Amino acid sequence: MFKTIIYIVLICIIIALLASGVHLWRVNQRNKKEMAPYEGAPIALKNNFGKTLVIYYSLSGHTKQIAELIKEKTNADIYEIKTLAKINDVPWYPLIIRSQNKSGKYPAIVQPLPDFSQYDTIFFGAPVWWYTIATPAKTFLTRADFQNKRVAPFSTQGSNFGTYFTDFNHMAQNAQLLPSASFNNLGSEYDAAVSNKITVWLNSFPPYKE
Ligand SMILES: Cc1cc2nc3c(=O)[nH]c(=O)nc-3n(C[C@H](O)[C@H](O)[C@H](O)COP(=O)(O)O)c2cc1C
Repeated sequence: MFKTIIYIVLICIIIALLASGVHLWRVNQRNKKEMAPYEGAPIALKNNFGKTLVIYYSLSGHTKQIAELIKEKTNADIYEIKTLAKINDVPWYPLIIRSQNKSGKYPAIVQPLPDFSQYDTIFFGAPVWWYTIATPAKTFLTRADFQNKRVAPFSTQGSNFGTYFTDFNHMAQNAQLLPSASFNNLGSEYDAAVSNKITVWLNSFPPYKE
């Protein structure tokens, strides 16, 4: 009997490992296909954005990396959303985040929020958590009024952004929405392609007119 239980457990572990291997392989293939058009020589930025601000939340640095690239390309100011308390101080923090999404009680963030009045174009980026916007970024959105500013959302994620952008459209009060962009976590071999992807996205905006 004991032996049978051990066999069943082992078979379950092997199936789980195989399934995650297949998932990783498929994500890898999809990333290759998605990034192929952005490989090659650097693409020139042709657009005008007025005065720009990049707002982002990042827990492990991926969103920060994209935010910094946008900042460099558009000569933007940058604002990081920070939580008052550390969000990942217990190993089961993903479950806490999940319950925050269910209850709508998002974590407290550092105040004050930036003054949007001096900006013409605002970028807003966060990681995807449980197929939606990371909860500290949601806190920001519940407090912010974009006052008819042009706002371009972006996300970073493992592979699936779920309802991030539809949720953003609902939550970004009074924003004039610009095209969005999502960025899967990729290795450094894709750095040049990611840079081109950002430029192509920025070039797709309607030009800012004073
Ligand atoms: C709690 C939690 C939930 C996540 N949920 C998703 C998800 O639903 N879909 C996905 O593709 N990636 C998911 N991820 C992966 C992150 O979106 C991804 O690693 C992101 O780039 C992290 O950004 P950061 O480094 O700026 O914090 C999740 C990560 C965490 C910590």
